[in-house]
Amino acid sequence: MSTVAVTGAEGFIGSHLVEHLVAHGHRVKAMVQYNSFSSYGWLETLDKDVLSCVEIVLGDVRDPGSVTGLVKGTEAVYHLAALIAIPYSYRAPHSYIDTNVNGTLNVLEAVRHLDIPRMVHTSTSETYGTAQTVPITEDHPINTQSPYSASKAGGDRLADAYHSSFDTQVVVLRPFNTFGPRQSMRAVIPTVIAQIAAGAREITLGDLRPTRDFLFVKDTAAAFYAVATAPAEAVVGRTFNAGTGGEISVGDLVTLVGKLMEVDLTVREDTQRLRPANSEVMRLVADASRLRAATDWAPAHSLQAGLEKTIAFFRDPANLARYKTDIYNV
Ligand SMILES: NC(=O)c1ccc[n+]([C@@H]2O[C@H](COP(=O)([O-])OP(=O)(O)OC[C@H]3O[C@@H](n4cnc5c(N)ncnc54)[C@H](O)[C@@H]3O)[C@@H](O)[C@H]2O)c1
Repeated sequence: MSTVAVTGAEGFIGSHLVEHLVAHGHRVKAMVQYNSFSSYGWLETLDKDVLSCVEIVLGDVRDPGSVTGLVKGTEAVYHLAALIAIPYSYRAPHSYIDTNVNGTLNVLEAVRHLDIPRMVHTSTSETYGTAQTVPITEDHPINTQSPYSASKAGGDRLADAYHSSFDTQVVVLRPFNTFGPRQSMRAVIPTVIAQIAAGAREITLGDLRPTRDFLFVKDTAAAFYAVATAPAEAVVGRTFNAGTGGEISVGDLVTLVGKLMEVDLTVREDTQRLRPANSEVMRLVADASRLRAATDWAPAHSLQAGLEKTIAFFRDPANLARYKTDIYNV
């Protein structure tokens, strides 16, 4: 049974990835960001059988020693830890550079010096900015419209540079908008579903016009695994989009969720949720043919199937109780 490391393991995508890795027979060293509550985040909710294959490592990607201890002795490193909220990146940009750029540098250094055979670095579709051509291929220009996106692109560039300079065996995975159970209310789908599940019929949102390519989290986890296990010559040193190729506006998404939850909704625009005009990314839709060609990956969930699973999660009162549905979650 091989041992792999995951940063950001206690988060939304990380916790699903940990489940995926254990289901595929791996032991997981899971970095959980050190905190004063001894909280292991979403990892606390996983089945005992899964957790029996998980070693929790409290640490911080900003601390090189933490990272070295985590990755030592592993066969693959999945680097997901990041600050991810775009609105908070307007308020606290320095912390985004510390975590997303310097944190990535620390992971790359550890992987390089310990000769780890494979690292997957997590990028984001936000690095493309509003689509200039659709669907978006990996050759689309990078246009960082928020401090978040700039910090993620910085990490991506370091990954490319470490491959070129030191032959570090790193792959960059660029997921488009991911959704599903456990996502925080900083994202639009949980914001809509959780407000409805808590009884609201007037939903508060930002801009309804932008379109996104929504990928169900189990498919995102499978994409990580696909690039981590593909032959090196097919993936190392390359960047891969992960998305469905489908596209829906936030407004149409709200209508669809209302229909699936069988409620009549009104939407109230909240100006504090609007991004500055030039920072809003108006259109994102993926061309993931490079990933499909290099691996056996393909998304297995339609938008509706993923939404139904997400709705079921939020309708469980024990899950809903973990959320603050009455505030704007930055
Ligand atoms: N959710 C999406 O739609 C999406 C899309 C594309 C890319 N991504 C990327 O996927 C990754 C995971 O995002 P997510 O949606 O699961 O968000 P998340 O906030 O749930 O997970 C991020 C995790 O990183 C951890 N973290 C933050 N700072 C840290 C530090 N200094 N040291 C160690 N851990 C730290 C957090 O505690 C958290 O658990 C991120 O790299 C994000 O940029 C997310």
